[in-house]
Amino acid sequence: MVTARAEPGAGAIDGRVERLLGQMTLAEKIGQLTLVHVEPGELPGDLRAAVRAGKAGAVLDVVDVATVNELQRIAAHDSRLGIPLLVGRDVIHGFKTVLPIPLGQAAAWNPDLVQQGARMAALEAAASGVNWTFAPMIDIARDPRWGRIAESFGEDSHLAAVLGAAAIRGFQGDGLSRPGAIAACAKHFVGYGASEGGRDYGYVGIPEVDLRNVHMPPFRAAADAGVATFMAAFSDVNGVPASANPFLLRTVLRGEWKFPGFVVSDWDSIVDMVVHGLVANDEEAALAALSAGVDMEMVSTTYRDHLPGLLAAKRIDPRLLDNAVRNVLRVKLQLGLFERTATDPAAYPGVASAANLALARELATQSLVLLQNRNGVLPLAPQRLHSLAVIGPLADDAYEQLGTWAPDGDPALSRTPLQAIRETVGARVTVRHVRAMATTRTVTTAGFTEAVAAASGADASVLFLGEESILSGESHSRASIDLPGNQLDLVRAVKRAGKPVIVVILAGRPLTIEPILAHADAVLYAWHPGVMAGPAIADILFGVESPSGKLPVTFPRVVGQVPLYYAHRSTGKPASQASFLHIDDIAARTPQAGLKNASQYLDAGYAPLYEFGYGLSYTSFTYADIAVAPTRARVGVPISVRAVVRNVGQVAGDEVAQLYVRDLVGSVTRPVRELKGFQRIHLEPGESREVAFQLSADDLAFYGRDLTRAVEPGSFHVWIGGSSSADLRADFELTAD
Ligand code: BGC
Repeated sequence: MVTARAEPGAGAIDGRVERLLGQMTLAEKIGQLTLVHVEPGELPGDLRAAVRAGKAGAVLDVVDVATVNELQRIAAHDSRLGIPLLVGRDVIHGFKTVLPIPLGQAAAWNPDLVQQGARMAALEAAASGVNWTFAPMIDIARDPRWGRIAESFGEDSHLAAVLGAAAIRGFQGDGLSRPGAIAACAKHFVGYGASEGGRDYGYVGIPEVDLRNVHMPPFRAAADAGVATFMAAFSDVNGVPASANPFLLRTVLRGEWKFPGFVVSDWDSIVDMVVHGLVANDEEAALAALSAGVDMEMVSTTYRDHLPGLLAAKRIDPRLLDNAVRNVLRVKLQLGLFERTATDPAAYPGVASAANLALARELATQSLVLLQNRNGVLPLAPQRLHSLAVIGPLADDAYEQLGTWAPDGDPALSRTPLQAIRETVGARVTVRHVRAMATTRTVTTAGFTEAVAAASGADASVLFLGEESILSGESHSRASIDLPGNQLDLVRAVKRAGKPVIVVILAGRPLTIEPILAHADAVLYAWHPGVMAGPAIADILFGVESPSGKLPVTFPRVVGQVPLYYAHRSTGKPASQASFLHIDDIAARTPQAGLKNASQYLDAGYAPLYEFGYGLSYTSFTYADIAVAPTRARVGVPISVRAVVRNVGQVAGDEVAQLYVRDLVGSVTRPVRELKGFQRIHLEPGESREVAFQLSADDLAFYGRDLTRAVEPGSFHVWIGGSSSADLRADFELTAD
């Protein structure tokens, strides 16, 4: 077993940092700021030499434990000062045991499971010698065209803040020096999710007030949770790329938040400064990045190549360099790396263990969102079935169900939906499997005849559709977010067989699925659920579990509505049922003033297909008796809000009760609703429970017109319910004195 060590004290660490720093040559200092990428399976001889010379302080993408141990041995024993390496890896949603993609994890609205998942991933990764992960990604993602929405916790600042902090606690455990703790990295600071047009790496234009109120809160929460490192975004934020942005990295992160860890650039994001057109050459890029507060350079080598010259020319204050080195050394000492240079995989017996697979199954089950269930077609009762058709390109694909960013995932661990369905229904039920399309992008109808024949001969069909993992993730944005290829036609064709049709969608983003709703009796949104996709989905299909996932992101009806999110501003002319006339209902030669002026689309209205927080269950929950106390109070007095949730259906189920607030008047306009709390509760049929929330001053504070953070006195609405459309409301008022 791994054994515990005592947590080193801050004073002792600072003393060791200073002693090391005092002995370091310039090359060794720059070495600590150099993060070297190693191609899998390849260990260049010059890397060994660089480590020996103290010129490489960190590596990424080495996951072979023998290689990691060799490098750590060279660093610890053959280099002059014996400083061990940081070994970084993208442990995004599990390591060997792949969990649902982060967007799917967010749909579980269960911080405790997210924390457990990160803990599990940390232990698996640590068994390979990894001591640093580039996660969690806590960018606010409001544009499903952006491929990296898959890696995010969705559109909401509060949800992302809570889940991000949970992931950090999971990765870093009870203390960085504890066994199996790995340093986490809050990324990508900041605004990356708002890339123009959902095109990856695109320009980000966000007013400071929205940066602070919407995009920064998860990062602030990460800093408060003690995250060891931050990653500067690729993005050009308001004209100054994040990797050279002193306002973000010095004024906010260090100045206001007092972040003590280190900041790493993103991959080549320092040399990219030249491509952005911020600086003319690599030397100026190094100057801009270090001056702005990027401590460590990922992959590109402008620090190594140009800091000596910049120092010699007195263009960089040597104290700036020393501080960056201090930040890195401090994290290495906090991690206890000097005391544990060798990794013994036998000390980590749990990789892909039964317990890990059980956790993966639980998280996947809770992440599944039931969007439609006409006539209660789900759950299916195996004892009443004779035959089932299982159709589609993602029904039995051990690799695709893992999703994006699963470089260490092992598809051999995957249990596919087809396998799990077969196991659940047993030999008595005939299961006929037809892939029908080679991939989700197939445009022929060659496999349709067989699919329709299977559907005709079965009691019901379950279609597994969506997107392969390659269609989301970094640099994999899409301009159309429809189901790719001929999938809509496949649903139509199968429906014509006249039997119930259940569609399960595996995808890295919200897709515009409205066209399938008329042909699908039930729709279950599964994201990319990871290795245990099969059992989790089968448990829902056959009613072993009641669905309990809720959308962490708004589903648009058509892509042209994007960005579409629940916490939008009112505008001066908000749309409503009364304001809306569909394009097909507008009479010829209607005068320009003949329609109501409202913030809407003539052809797509104003409402989403499914709102944030939405998700069905096999039972029904009602909300009643909302109460606020006090209803009038001075700013700063905590407000308690409670309501009674009742399970009025026939089966037990989990419900995610959500609390939303509207601050009616602000010095800057406030969102029409903001999530401020949520609780996942379990209720037996007929059972009711009071859910209680406290709204502190911190919950109600925001950055106003003068860009200071405060609660502004005035009237508030508060709702408790099962989605962002909750209508059970109470009001309260805050006074200045
Ligand atoms: C991504 C980061 C990732 C890094 C290292 C970059 O391309 O933007 O999120 O951590 O690569 O793999």
